Amino acid sequence: MAWHEAYDDPSSALSARLHMVRAQLAGAINRAPPGAVRLVSLCAGQGHDVLGVLRDHPRRADVSAVLVEADPDNAAAAGEHAARAGLAQVEVRHADASQVASFADALPAGVLMLCGIFGNVSEPDIERTIAAAAAFCAPGATVIWTRHRGPPDQTPRIRALFAGAGFEEIMFGSPEKSPQVGVGAGQFRGTPATTGPADGVSATAGPAVTRPAVIAGGEPLFTFRP
Ligand SMILES: C[S@@+](CC[C@H](N)C(=O)[O-])C[C@H]1O[C@@H](n2cnc3c(N)ncnc32)[C@H](O)[C@@H]1O
Repeated sequence: MAWHEAYDDPSSALSARLHMVRAQLAGAINRAPPGAVRLVSLCAGQGHDVLGVLRDHPRRADVSAVLVEADPDNAAAAGEHAARAGLAQVEVRHADASQVASFADALPAGVLMLCGIFGNVSEPDIERTIAAAAAFCAPGATVIWTRHRGPPDQTPRIRALFAGAGFEEIMFGSPEKSPQVGVGAGQFRGTPATTGPADGVSATAGPAVTRPAVIAGGEPLFTFRP
């Protein structure tokens, strides 16, 4: 069974996770300052989270979204879903989200989605991605992430990494009936990044937060395990 088929079962842990992620995303859009909201979703899958929220959100017209997905079938499904929902401001990119150049033009993000990534990549990749997330975000941006809590539970470390990168935790939890699922959200309190050309993002170090000086094009943020 493909991972996303569990979304078809409303009682699955994945559906419970989706419910939590959508609630966080709706809250992030509500919280965003008036005007345009730039949303970036890495490894977006079929976009169930973003599209399910934007469809009915009162601020849907404010949100422009870039969904980056490597699998052509998933990307096509997300694109069709967006079109059906009349969400012309959602761009689905069939591209490699581990390469900053794939989405650098959409930064800085007001909402950054990192869902379904951390359970599939190495610990150094998690560290690199969280450090980079700080350089991707506008001041006050919300990051939403997920990680399963199977042993060894990496979520305490992930939460600490986000805190160290300048994200104030808004929530962390599990669905009531799916304690093996972890969903987190944080608000970026670090210093603003300056976006560069398509080869990457550069940022100056803020007072309290160590941020990557340059996320060079070419070096992947993460690699999914086979
Ligand atoms: C576990 S799924 C999560 C999808 C979605 N974010 C969600 O939570 O429903 C991981 C997705 O990442 C995609 N993926 C894996 N490596 C990728 C890469 N380097 N760039 C973009 N997408 C990638 C896979 O094709 C898959 O759709």
